[in-house]
Amino acid sequence: MTHRSVPVARSRRLAPVAVAALLAAFVVPVLAAEPANAATPLRTLAAAKNKFIGFAAATGPLANESAYRTIAQTEFSQITPENAMKWDSTEPSDNQYNFSGADQIVTFAAANNQVVHGHTLVWHSQTPSWVQSLSASAMRTAMNDHIATVVGHFASNPVVQSWDVVNEVFDENGGYRSSFWYNTLGSGFIADAFRAARAADADAKLCINDYNVEGINAKSTAMYNLVNTLKGQGVPIDCVGLQTHLSTQYGFPGDMQQNIARFAALGVTVRITELDIRIPTPRTAAKDATQAQYYTNVVNACLAVSACTGITIWGFTDKYSWVPDTFPSEGAALIYDENYQVKPSYTAVNTALGGSPNNDTTAPSAPSNLAASGTTSTSTTLSWTASTDNVGVTGYDILRAPGTSGGTFAVVGSSTTTSFTNTGLTAATSYRYQVRAKDAAGNTSAVSNTVTVTTSGGTGDTTAPSAPSNLAASGTTASGTSLSWTGSTDNVGVTGYDILRAPGTSGGTFAVVGTSTTTSYADSGLSAATSYRYQVRAKDAAGNVSAVSNTVTVTTLSGGGTGGCSVTATVQTSWGNGYVMDPVTVKNTGTSSITGWTVTFTLPAGHTISGSWNGTVTVSGQNVTVKPVGWNSTVAPGASVAFGFQVSRPNGDTSTASGFACTTP
Ligand code: XIL
Repeated sequence: MTHRSVPVARSRRLAPVAVAALLAAFVVPVLAAEPANAATPLRTLAAAKNKFIGFAAATGPLANESAYRTIAQTEFSQITPENAMKWDSTEPSDNQYNFSGADQIVTFAAANNQVVHGHTLVWHSQTPSWVQSLSASAMRTAMNDHIATVVGHFASNPVVQSWDVVNEVFDENGGYRSSFWYNTLGSGFIADAFRAARAADADAKLCINDYNVEGINAKSTAMYNLVNTLKGQGVPIDCVGLQTHLSTQYGFPGDMQQNIARFAALGVTVRITELDIRIPTPRTAAKDATQAQYYTNVVNACLAVSACTGITIWGFTDKYSWVPDTFPSEGAALIYDENYQVKPSYTAVNTALGGSPNNDTTAPSAPSNLAASGTTSTSTTLSWTASTDNVGVTGYDILRAPGTSGGTFAVVGSSTTTSFTNTGLTAATSYRYQVRAKDAAGNTSAVSNTVTVTTSGGTGDTTAPSAPSNLAASGTTASGTSLSWTGSTDNVGVTGYDILRAPGTSGGTFAVVGTSTTTSYADSGLSAATSYRYQVRAKDAAGNVSAVSNTVTVTTLSGGGTGGCSVTATVQTSWGNGYVMDPVTVKNTGTSSITGWTVTFTLPAGHTISGSWNGTVTVSGQNVTVKPVGWNSTVAPGASVAFGFQVSRPNGDTSTASGFACTTP
């Protein structure tokens, strides 16, 4: 049989048909648009047939185009890097490896539950020139090193399951291709490459891959004989890749299934590795139909032989296809058009895999046994028995209605599993739930049984928590204060506290300024030198609120920054029944100026103040309060003022005033 497709290197042999190309430029194809794609994804259908369905991934659109990514992850279970694992990508210069593109694809595949076929280790194309000019021993070393490093990079990653070890080693007549590999190393490089790959990964499936080997012909027979020989020699070869770059103008290889079957009989698996079916551009409905039939034929050939493990399409959108660049006047070889719309070829593949892409009207069965568990005051977890569907259930809607009767069911969430947790519910409140199933074609099932859920928090719990007590403020600055209190108690548990604040020292209204789940709260953003009153109250899970705590009044410090003062008292002189303390130094320890200060101290029993200077002294029992006299009221940050006083005491008593403390307003 004559060959039907040509590789990159030989594409020049196809002379561009100038007239056809010229016509193509003026013919606007008018093609029936396929219906919006509501089909069961190819990967779902293929899995049911125990096959993979994959595509060749280009790193650019995979990184940049969401439409590309969506189809890639929805429709396919397998990826072959179109270029990113080739030698010129992974080892552009000797021993300089770069796995950025390859890793990007493997990461995407892992995230989408897909497997990766490594392509390709030893090929005459897309291999840097430094390899091509090596001596035999250096080339052998380079090949073994390359295989060890590239296969080794992915060996422990379960996503990468197989490799094209050698690619396109035959010519069209069944001889070895006169490549630099063959010309330098002889045909032994093939077995060597397989052994090196096996040494680098004991588990990966190792393949030989070629084009124009889909039907039975001289080239495929040469491949068959080589596989047979290698297996006889114990060379680790597991699979055969039929690239399957077809063109409708060369006819379909009608013995493809038979060819797959004869390879299978050798004990290897067979993959369709690079499927595309090009047509003479521009597209017409008739050409699309022929192409669709070819796709059907390929899928059927693979389905017919269990050793055919799956099909990789060489891309999926005509927007990114190597065909127009390689085969003049041919193109539109894939299953989606340039705008990511499915083509008849998509419908053909879907249908051949067992789907009914355009006419599935069968709804899934209704989910059953809907039940709720783990209900708290704010959430409940639903679970149910799965629905069944002819093309597969894609997910479930969760519907909720308020109360135990009446109201309307509305969708509150969706799930791809048979459970769902609904959060954000109100305590001690009833809800009804139902679920329904959806399939890939958009059909929706009847709803399940209804389950009624009442959140906890105590249906009928009307017992409020005890009021918080001992509310106190500390650490007051010019702009904030810290509150703390003694916690409340409650029959169903305190869930938190409201913090209420009123302006000034009396009057005004208390309003909630914050909440706390602990027994403290820091209020901020207050005005300097301003009074506020605080209260707190407790809440429980059922929404009951306690009486308020005691009220605490807070006056913030003056100034924009923090105020504060310290006091240091010195006994200047003393005698049998008296002493002088001077200086008693008041220092502004804050970051802003203070206006006014108050020093307090305690006189021992029997001591009385007999004179003072630079301070206004008030005595109450043994407690003494000293304030500025006027001129020493304002103190800059870090500055000090001082006052002094004289004390009379019982004869022989050597004690002095103590407990000096300083506060600022
Ligand atoms: C092609 C890619 O699709 C192009 O992007 C690249 O420019 C050339 O190679 N046989 C193979 C594939 O094994 O690696 C080739 O891929 C197509 C022919």
